[in-house]
Amino acid sequence: MSYANTSPKIMPSLLSADFANLQRSIEQIPDADALHVDVMDNHFVPNLTLGLPVVEAIRKVTDAFLDIHLMIEDPDVWAPEYAEAGAESVTFHVAAAKAPIRLSREIRSKGARVGMALKPATPIEAYADLLGEIDMLLIMTVEPGFGGQKFLDLTLPKINRTRELISSAGLDIWLQVDGGVSSDTIERCAEAGADAFVAGSAVFGADDPNEMINSLRTAAAVPEGGTAQA
Ligand code: DX5
Ligand code: ZN
Repeated sequence: MSYANTSPKIMPSLLSADFANLQRSIEQIPDADALHVDVMDNHFVPNLTLGLPVVEAIRKVTDAFLDIHLMIEDPDVWAPEYAEAGAESVTFHVAAAKAPIRLSREIRSKGARVGMALKPATPIEAYADLLGEIDMLLIMTVEPGFGGQKFLDLTLPKINRTRELISSAGLDIWLQVDGGVSSDTIERCAEAGADAFVAGSAVFGADDPNEMINSLRTAAAVPEGGTAQA
């Protein structure tokens, strides 16, 4: 089934930006709906990126919506700190959380939107009862840890089932996809029901990153009863 999506959000991942000059990378993409920031601790995933001090530094140079994606152990301890640092959205992996309901409520109490992430092999059904506690569900469309990986088509049925669960519960939850999202794959994600799209290498690997954001947004727009625009 195809889902109408007239206002897709494109969220470039800074993982593919210039780590020696993040401010300049951010200034290259004024049309981004959010800046997606990947925090990795070399424990939950086999890679190490950045943490709270860098997010605090980014906060000082931009008013953009900060979408923090925590790929770390102990999100129960760390996630609230990112909300306190002024991030608009903080996403934790449910597989890493000790108490996901308590953690979701704590993040919300600090004024940020709550995101909950599922790895490709993690089913949504086990967490359906938690949907009322969150503002965004992130479905990983690659194994988390690295940019530039190939999109996993096997995640599409889960995106569709998740959109059905959200719709039937009457909830206003963003459904985000992350990993391998590009002009080749974004339409499939949109038709399956995603409305928030993380793209790292597709955006920062483009000749004009800002133009790529707008072209991805057009491609992801699914009209009522129709299919995504090419
Ligand atoms: C991967 C990260 C992604 C990554 C996506 O674990 O969560 O946000 O930056 O990169 P691309 O879009 O290149 O697959
Ligand atoms: Zn990410």
